[in-house]
Amino acid sequence: MNESFQALVLDQHDEHLHAEVKEVKADVLPKEEDGNVLVEVHYSALNYKDALGLTSSGKIVSHYPFIPGCEFVGTVVESDHLDIKVGDEVIATGFGIGERHFGGFSQYAQVPGNWLVKLPKGMNMRDAIAIGTPGLTAMLSIDALEHAGVRPGEEVLVTGATGGVGSFAITLLRRLGYHVVASTGKTDSPYLRSLGVETIIDRSELEGPVRPLAKQRFDAAIDSVGGNTLANILSQTRYEGAVAACGLVGGADLPTSVYPFILRGVKLIGIDSVMQPMARRTNAWERLEELIDPKVLNDMIHEIPLHDVPRHAEAMMRGELSGRTVVRLR
Ligand SMILES: NC(=O)c1ccc[n+]([C@@H]2O[C@H](COP(=O)([O-])OP(=O)(O)OC[C@H]3O[C@@H](n4cnc5c(N)ncnc54)[C@H](OP(=O)(O)O)[C@@H]3O)[C@@H](O)[C@H]2O)c1
Repeated sequence: MNESFQALVLDQHDEHLHAEVKEVKADVLPKEEDGNVLVEVHYSALNYKDALGLTSSGKIVSHYPFIPGCEFVGTVVESDHLDIKVGDEVIATGFGIGERHFGGFSQYAQVPGNWLVKLPKGMNMRDAIAIGTPGLTAMLSIDALEHAGVRPGEEVLVTGATGGVGSFAITLLRRLGYHVVASTGKTDSPYLRSLGVETIIDRSELEGPVRPLAKQRFDAAIDSVGGNTLANILSQTRYEGAVAACGLVGGADLPTSVYPFILRGVKLIGIDSVMQPMARRTNAWERLEELIDPKVLNDMIHEIPLHDVPRHAEAMMRGELSGRTVVRLR
């Protein structure tokens, strides 16, 4: 492809970051050794990681000048990969996209074909990007709990409940027939009730001092908070229950003991969506297509043009955004 196109270019001068929509040439896009695929990007989405990368130097982005955007969806226009054909609709999340490899805040992106998932039949591009990394992470967490023996009808605690991962976890768990206990800092918000949550607890209940073992309270949990919260969850999970740990908004430490594991057989399962093998990714996307109601997604989406990304990144860092901020490239 020879034409130039628009991309958000992040650069650093005198320790200051500067992001601007610029006209760039296709030859700036990175090429891996083989299997390169050029995608005409239709949508990207603004994640916390992107906001951090756009506002704090050196935290997420590996080098400058750089095209950020950790995920994108679009149509394949050139392909050197055997399984990905011109015209396929694909989604890319993880693998260092928008961190080490130029990302999706761009009208075109180029990545190795084995980083791409073809959209499940019946899922459109806007819905796919609205689900994106948080939806995928929630689905992978539920897959892991089910693999550990957790079954519909049981009670699953979801922490960081009103966040991206939390909201998708609740929506999916309810759809699958689980009872949900939501732990949140916003107990008065009607939002969690609208997602079908039956029991809401204040997140401060799980933030206090950790006892090695406490009353068995939850069958399972999906935790995006970490720290004392995760340690308290482990102490309060029932015999042979399972906990999926996927985030650290409350802290990266884990002040627990071996007692929940050796006296109750509790399973702690780590969830990583970034380097997840392709077979599990594809399976998760197919389940997401089956389980997520597009009407619910539509209510979550706030759509912005590319040049509004820097302003929204700052608002996200101030905690002012809710739902999914979808970036329109076309
Ligand atoms: N493992 C992976 O592959 C993967 C993928 C995606 C995200 N993540 C991680 O998962 C976490 C959540 O991501 P997200 O996209 O859902 O973020 P998010 O949309 O910002 O939501 C996080 C939620 O956590 C709660 N929260 C915020 N600060 C807190 C604090 N100091 N202590 C306790 N709770 C707090 C809030 O919910 P309430 O007000 O309802 O409590 C907030 O809405 C992040 O750490 C992210 O890095 C990991």
